[in-house]
Amino acid sequence: MARRTADCSENVLDRLKLGVEKLPQEKVLILDFGGRYTQMLARKIRELHVYCEILPGNATSGQVKALQPKALIFSGSGEEGAPDVDPGLYRLGIPLLGICYGMQLLAKGLGGSVRTAGGEYKKTKVEIKSRSDLFSGLPNETEVWLSGSAYVEKVPGGFEATAAAAGIPVVAMANREKNIYAVLFQPADVHTTHGTEILKNFLFKVAGLAGDWTMDAFIDGTVRQIRDSVGREEKVICGLSGGVDSSVAAVLVHKAIGDQLTCIFVDHGLLRKDEAKQVMETFRKRLNMKVVAVDAAELFLSKLAGVTDPEKKRKIIGSEFIRVFEKEAVNVGGADYLVQGTVYTDIIESRTAAGDVIKSHHNVGGLPEGMKFKLIEPLKYLFKDEVRLVGEKLGLPEEIVWRHPFPGPGLAVRVLGEVTREKLEILRQADAIMLEEIKTAGLYRNIWQAFAVLPDIRSVGVRGDRRTYDHTIALRAVTGRDGTTAGCYRFPYEVLEKIVQRIVAEVPRVNRVVYDITPKPPSTIEWE
Ligand code: XMP
Repeated sequence: MARRTADCSENVLDRLKLGVEKLPQEKVLILDFGGRYTQMLARKIRELHVYCEILPGNATSGQVKALQPKALIFSGSGEEGAPDVDPGLYRLGIPLLGICYGMQLLAKGLGGSVRTAGGEYKKTKVEIKSRSDLFSGLPNETEVWLSGSAYVEKVPGGFEATAAAAGIPVVAMANREKNIYAVLFQPADVHTTHGTEILKNFLFKVAGLAGDWTMDAFIDGTVRQIRDSVGREEKVICGLSGGVDSSVAAVLVHKAIGDQLTCIFVDHGLLRKDEAKQVMETFRKRLNMKVVAVDAAELFLSKLAGVTDPEKKRKIIGSEFIRVFEKEAVNVGGADYLVQGTVYTDIIESRTAAGDVIKSHHNVGGLPEGMKFKLIEPLKYLFKDEVRLVGEKLGLPEEIVWRHPFPGPGLAVRVLGEVTREKLEILRQADAIMLEEIKTAGLYRNIWQAFAVLPDIRSVGVRGDRRTYDHTIALRAVTGRDGTTAGCYRFPYEVLEKIVQRIVAEVPRVNRVVYDITPKPPSTIEWE
């Protein structure tokens, strides 16, 4: 796993470079100092109709200022390696909320002091001392989860302690004149009794935001921006996979520029059963869009021959995709723009706040240097469930909007080790049986993602009175909200049993099926 130093500059500069993105007027930036709550906080804020983005904690005041946020939040658990905060941020005059470790940073940065204790993470009663602003409308007492392992001992000049708990003198503090607030607990945590009210108070009372960011506003704004930046003559191509992200991106761009858009559907030979046929039918016949289908199976499979390293597979597929698009761009009369269905979690997953590359999602990490296209990524800052809402509003059919996510590198990351036609065929059949049974049982919408994997394992079995030495299929079905974390889906046993029985009976060369019940983390959803 490659280690990178946390760096915000790419993220921000990338944004400023992309002319198509004049982002919403009202924006909150969260500086991420590690921990699992940051994304939860971001979605919670968006659910309150305020657009918000996450930047790595080492963002500089210049970078933050360039994005013109209306409020700033420092959030995180202060995991090892969490960066220090740029002191220039305190001089921007933007309303600021420090959460958990963000509160400690803020206290230290402004001249207060923090005490390290040995407290454990537990449910704690909190006495609210000042019920104006952040705690407006709250009772005198509330309940939160906090650790108290480090807390503010002395508040910085100009601040007052606004909440306390037994043994923790400062659970919250405020400097009303400077509009700087801090809490030692996470308002986005479902266990924080008045968390939503506290967030609302910060956004609407302290920062004075209007909260008018909706999916309709997003669609209107994005369509306008795409129209403005692309012009009337330019040609645009879109890599369409039939998955919800690229489909929604394509329909959104089509709404903006109509037939200036040509979708390219690349059959890289790594698709699921009948996928190519279904996608063509939906987009050409039902949605009336221009789609070119490219059969590139031979090309991709030859490039992948002998390759076993997962990252190498991903990079090869990423760059071959672009090569195919470049060729097709010439065929459609010279396209300058490429639409991609990158979503926010692709970006966050590819580069965590602490800077580790987990997997190169081909939309993000695998793009070759010197690529000729200008990118249009209209969903780049949306979470998956927001993308689905946009899809529904744009009238996409249910089977596309609610389709389980499928990775760009396709079955190549589900056939472990070398990818061969024979292994792909085995996997395709097993996968189709699994999905068919899930749909028949009416469980498809309860599951975030379900699929079969072909690990590079052979084992001994017996069929009739003959010994076999054949493949194992692993089944994976997970629950989740956006793929950043996942839990094992608890199948009704009969459904699981039926899937297994059918796979071993119908798929040649498979004599064993196992069910992967590992959550993410520590596993990832895809096996490679
Ligand atoms: P992991 O395996 O990292 O996957 O837990 C998280 C989510 O992302 C999907 N995924 C991808 N999507 N291109 C994509 O468009 C990719 O390269 C890619 N790799 C993983 C995965 O299916 C899951 O939903």
